[in-house]
Amino acid sequence: MSSLSTFDLPVNKKPIVIIGAGGIVKDAHLPAYKKADFEVSAIYDLDTEKAKALALKFEIPTVCIDLKELVEFAQQNDCVYDMALPASVILSVLANIPDGSGVLIQKPMGENITQAEAILGLCRKKKLVAGINFQLRHAPYVTHAKKLIDQGAIGELHDIDVRMNVYTPWHLWDFLCQLPRVEILYHSIHYIDMIRYFLGEPKRVFAKTTKHPNMRALASTRSSIIMDYGDLVRANINTNHGHNFGSNHQESYFTFEGTEGAIKITVGVYLDYPKGLPDQFEYISLKDGESWKEVKIEGSWFPDAFIGPMAGLMCKTENPAYTYINSVEDAIHTMDVVEKCYESSENL
Ligand SMILES: NC(=O)c1ccc[n+]([C@@H]2O[C@H](COP(=O)([O-])OP(=O)(O)OC[C@H]3O[C@@H](n4cnc5c(N)ncnc54)[C@H](O)[C@@H]3O)[C@@H](O)[C@H]2O)c1
Repeated sequence: MSSLSTFDLPVNKKPIVIIGAGGIVKDAHLPAYKKADFEVSAIYDLDTEKAKALALKFEIPTVCIDLKELVEFAQQNDCVYDMALPASVILSVLANIPDGSGVLIQKPMGENITQAEAILGLCRKKKLVAGINFQLRHAPYVTHAKKLIDQGAIGELHDIDVRMNVYTPWHLWDFLCQLPRVEILYHSIHYIDMIRYFLGEPKRVFAKTTKHPNMRALASTRSSIIMDYGDLVRANINTNHGHNFGSNHQESYFTFEGTEGAIKITVGVYLDYPKGLPDQFEYISLKDGESWKEVKIEGSWFPDAFIGPMAGLMCKTENPAYTYINSVEDAIHTMDVVEKCYESSENL
């Protein structure tokens, strides 16, 4: 079993206040913080009943009835903020957070590059220590792949392939029906961010994102993305969320190929959704022989990966010299790639 205590932890953990008591906070943020033994001291949502329900379930001592009360609480108790809100309201809420605070903001960083730049500008102006919750970088199977690649186990990395041929019932999330952008902005954005983490900035992107005849009320839910890293390195993302034909031929994986080996990660969470199937981590390193090995990885994307962006935020508030891989300064580049994908798809 691979040991996955790979998160950098602060010397002194700070208490957390949460803004937004929706699905992702219930299913991932709070379970992750419980695992990491982070203290969640207060929660606020426009819908106070939702905040109260989560406070009860996760033993959060304080429910605030408005943002002003939460901010006062956070200042008195030296807390960091955890925002998990619709992208459209990030800017207006952020404007009310005191200068110099530590804030983790759920992805996406706004609904488009214009909003992302405004969020970055506000974070700079207010001198916030701010991050975007691109947590896939911290998924235990991704951190293990990064470790192997950094150790040279597969030689020179030259190929990353992301394949999702799954059924995601997007139509169940009503709010998505109003949005002009769905698949790349809300889903493939994670893969774009992960590929940037391994390969840096692409020279350019080519993309086509397509609607599905059975999900006509939604914007596109299938995408083919090529991130161009020149003549020797290939990075592709291929997603189809409309494969509603049982789990036999569903696919959900990342592959990393190097000059001396390869890694295949089966991402179980999207298979047979919402039940999910087990993850699998397999790799071959020609340096170790010629057979594939399976590594048992402790933890998964949900909820374990959600520890990393918050742990990093606390480290950054404690030590300004700490390299925070989820900083808004880094995240803006993922938003830029997303924007270029939509431009490419619309042939702009
Ligand atoms: N893997 C991931 O990173 C991941 C997964 C799912 C969702 N998300 C992101 O998390 C965010 C929230 O998603 P969700 O599924 O929890 O949505 P949700 O609709 O379940 O919850 C959003 C909550 O925000 C509250 N809210 C809205 N405006 C507010 C305001 N101005 N002040 C206080 N509360 C307000 C709503 O009342 C609601 O309870 C979205 O941006 C989504 O993209 C990320």
